[in-house]
Amino acid sequence: MLNDEMIQLRPLELEDSELIRNWRFSEDAYNYFYEWQPQSKANNQAWVQSMLNKKDEINFIIRQKKSNQDIGMISLLHIDYRNRHCELGRVLIADEKSRALGIGKRVITLLFEYAFHHLNLRKIYCEVLEDNVRAYNFYKKCGFEKDGLFKNHIFKNGEYKNVVHMSYEK
Ligand SMILES: CC(C)(COP(=O)(O)OP(=O)(O)OC[C@H]1O[C@@H](n2cnc3c(N)ncnc32)[C@H](O)[C@@H]1OP(=O)(O)O)[C@@H](O)C(=O)NCCC(=O)NCCS
Repeated sequence: MLNDEMIQLRPLELEDSELIRNWRFSEDAYNYFYEWQPQSKANNQAWVQSMLNKKDEINFIIRQKKSNQDIGMISLLHIDYRNRHCELGRVLIADEKSRALGIGKRVITLLFEYAFHHLNLRKIYCEVLEDNVRAYNFYKKCGFEKDGLFKNHIFKNGEYKNVVHMSYEK
């Protein structure tokens, strides 16, 4: 478990399948993620199991200590020990009341500590839809820099959207 005084990052469990199905395929989440497809319980559980089987990713559930409530998720993906980098993904504070309170920043601080001082990585990268201004500002605030842009990359809401590539190097 990764902890600070306000939050805990605990490993994703198979039992969390329904929780994250509700988060990931909510109307709100449609705007932030590339993939958005209503999932059956069985398909979703199989997806979670496939995440848990992967050796090159670590998935966390974000728990708020005060309320003892699970409020979101985040993952380190494509962990590459030769090049010492990984992708930050599935970033979601699902509980809207818990956004803009500094929790996301705390989550990133805990993950940086883990990735750089335990896994011995040196770089973390991420992708964000260009029109997700809040998330882009969030990553900037956390120290990520813009590396480039994939133009007209993701089809969503009837149009092709640009995707910004960002990274943080220790
Ligand atoms: C993006 C997200 C993870 C940020 O987490 P958060 O807990 O709300 O962010 P924080 O409160 O830690 O804010 C940190 C910084 O992000 C930026 N930020 C946060 N909310 C913002 C908003 N509504 N508008 C603009 N910038 C914002 C600010 O720079 C802020 O720093 P400041 O408070 O000192 O100004 C969260 O809003 C979320 O889950 N959004 C929906 C899912 C999503 O977009 N995921 C990313 C997919 S790539």
